[in-house]
Amino acid sequence: MAVEYITSRNMVDLIYETLRLMNKPMAHHCMRVSYIMAKMLETYGTYEKYEIADFMVLALLHDIGAYKTDDVRKQLTFEAKNPLPHSVYGYLFLKYLSPLDEQSKMVLYHHTDYSKTKDMDYRYRFELEVLKVAESVDVWHRSFGEKFDCKMIHKYAGTKYDPEVCSLLDEAVEQYDIFTKLTDHTYREAYSESLDYVLLSDDEKEKYLKMLMYCTGLKDEQAVSETIATVYVCRELGRKLKLSELDKNEVYYAALLHDIGMLAIPLELLNVPRAFTDEEKNLIKTHVEIMEKTLEKKLSKEIIKVAAAHHERFDGNGYPRGLKASGMGQKEAILQISEQVVNSMEPKPYRTAHTKEEIVNDLNNGIISGKYEAIVADTFLKHYDEIMDKAKEKADLALVTHQKLLRNYKQVYTSLV
Ligand SMILES: [Fe+2]
Ligand SMILES: [Fe+2]
Ligand SMILES: [Fe+2]
Repeated sequence: MAVEYITSRNMVDLIYETLRLMNKPMAHHCMRVSYIMAKMLETYGTYEKYEIADFMVLALLHDIGAYKTDDVRKQLTFEAKNPLPHSVYGYLFLKYLSPLDEQSKMVLYHHTDYSKTKDMDYRYRFELEVLKVAESVDVWHRSFGEKFDCKMIHKYAGTKYDPEVCSLLDEAVEQYDIFTKLTDHTYREAYSESLDYVLLSDDEKEKYLKMLMYCTGLKDEQAVSETIATVYVCRELGRKLKLSELDKNEVYYAALLHDIGMLAIPLELLNVPRAFTDEEKNLIKTHVEIMEKTLEKKLSKEIIKVAAAHHERFDGNGYPRGLKASGMGQKEAILQISEQVVNSMEPKPYRTAHTKEEIVNDLNNGIISGKYEAIVADTFLKHYDEIMDKAKEKADLALVTHQKLLRNYKQVYTSLV
């Protein structure tokens, strides 16, 4: 169903924008690796353009695990000295939470020497070797600047890198003038052109949109469980309100991505064990506009409108725009109330979890004061237990995969040390 809301190309751009929210230099590194890999595969000559575009997406995500396991501000250090944690986490993240499950092993071994991978029976072994070289070329090219020479890579041909891939690098560099383009940033045009060929199925788009939500868990696990709970509370509430299929889907995607802007907010700030200062509150509030900007022109306007109103209130006392009842509809109300209820149920560093009685009182008071849209809030109150029970059951099921990933991390990591 995601196909109506986003094109393949916009989906990949949205993935890149999400990486950029978390850390710009890391996102740029991934874009450059993606470009170098594309040019190497093009030089090889046997790949279709759409196949190359698929590997470009994988290359864009090759360091995704680092957002969880390392301080991404120190990229050159962990990539060179301690690459295992982000390789393992990135592999599991893509295996369980993306459509790239088959290619995910490329991420697991992207820092493993050729001498250890050369006899591996793996469908994408050659592309893995290309990724390794493309990644090293970017890291070294940035460290050595103009002094970088492909000979530095060749020195490790047969040990760290596949000799055939080292020669392929030389050819690609000559054919596409890769280093000049990396230095003057014109590589971005070539990157963009090659990505135009990406073709995602509905199912893949759906999985990628979910994956973006799971990215919030790279910084803060609780964000994932809260968003999933919000998605299912919205769904049950929408069902009680007899929303059309289209409206239900729009609320679904809005709920899924509503807090993606939080990726740009420093985690240290969110975890302070006290009430926020006004300045901190204002900074946190920017997450809504950040989300809007990120999704703009990629997802449908209606989805963005609903998502952007999740902290607005019908009496005009919400943010960021202070919209009033006349500027919002039932879909906005569903997300607002569901998000508020889920949020109240969770303990925060600065307050305890709210009880059911407190939540019911808040909803009743909100109807009287005009804070909440009356029909939606009243429907919620009438079916409170049923909505919450069903939503919890579904949210728990949805979280199983995510928990599996967390549990497997230690196991895979230890097996490789
Ligand atoms: Fe990397
Ligand atoms: Fe890496
Ligand atoms: Fe929010």
